[in-house]
Amino acid sequence: MVNYKDLGLVNTREMFKRAVAGGYAIPAFNFNTMEQMQAIVMAAVETKSPVIMQVSKGARNYANGTILRNLAKGAVEYAKELGCEHPEIVLHLDHGDSFELCKECIDNGFSSVMIDGSSLPYEENIALAKKVVEYAHQFDVTVEAELGVLAGVEDEVSSAESHYTKPEEVIDFSTRTGCDSLAISIGTSHGAHKFTPEQCTLVNGVLVPPPLAFDILHEIEKKLPGFPIVLHGSSSVPMEEVNTINKYGGHLEAAIGIPEEQLREASKSAVCKINIDSDSRLAMTAAIRKHLAEHPGDFDPRQYLKPARENMKKMYIHKIVNVLGSDGKLAQC
Ligand code: G3H
Ligand code: 13P
Ligand code: ZN
Repeated sequence: MVNYKDLGLVNTREMFKRAVAGGYAIPAFNFNTMEQMQAIVMAAVETKSPVIMQVSKGARNYANGTILRNLAKGAVEYAKELGCEHPEIVLHLDHGDSFELCKECIDNGFSSVMIDGSSLPYEENIALAKKVVEYAHQFDVTVEAELGVLAGVEDEVSSAESHYTKPEEVIDFSTRTGCDSLAISIGTSHGAHKFTPEQCTLVNGVLVPPPLAFDILHEIEKKLPGFPIVLHGSSSVPMEEVNTINKYGGHLEAAIGIPEEQLREASKSAVCKINIDSDSRLAMTAAIRKHLAEHPGDFDPRQYLKPARENMKKMYIHKIVNVLGSDGKLAQC
């Protein structure tokens, strides 16, 4: 058993309380590689922001759970080395799909887990989330549960259609599960293709997607005042990165994300955790493609991973400062 406190990590409880009260959101960045971890830590330290480093089941399969845990431990030590005496770093399981997986992560240094029973019937979702909460809270690990279904791929669960969260269910769900935060569905979705061009409106040559369902978010806030709300699928899919990828040999068509102004607006509400993965993948791929196209003789991975790391760091800083507003929000520097 490895407790997250021994690794210098924190759970989400205090940072969410401050984020909801302060009208900002904590970034939750997925990572699979050392370069992503380094870029996340550099960005969080430079901006003095708390940060959630999250690991999906796919990331664990790719990189190995033990290695990822030690990267997270390294992240805390690296943040201190970079001059941040009191970093607030959460190691979070993203889209846990079973009690067993959540338990394994809790027993191995995670400070927060998500149990995603959103594709299950309502009562089964409650029973599963409650079981995870009862186990996690014995070790002061916080739990995110989900109500409502996002369109697209949720790790290995895929859904053609989204089903918005029903505000009339949120009190019952959060009370009976005892979860610490609630992921909701209000129009975001996973991946780099969140909307078809047909769903968008053309404004000044730019495809603008339909707005998020802020009415549902506000109804949920009224039912659960001050309760931490989570938004998944919140990459914005910057055109600049998509264009770079396509210019240097990639082929990404109709890649459309969530406009950043809408995420800024959501951050001011009870939304206190915003999940971003695809934008990091795009930033990394764009930089690598550009570098290799411009330096065809390079074959040392450090030559193209360095600009990739720089590009991701720039993107993370931009999200923290200009979109989520979590800069300068460490309890102690
Ligand atoms: O929600 C999905 C995340 O972007 C993780 O994706 O399962 O491919 O690691 P992944
Ligand atoms: P994006 O695919 O929009 O980055 O969403 C990531 C996510 O929700 C991880 O859980
Ligand atoms: Zn997600």
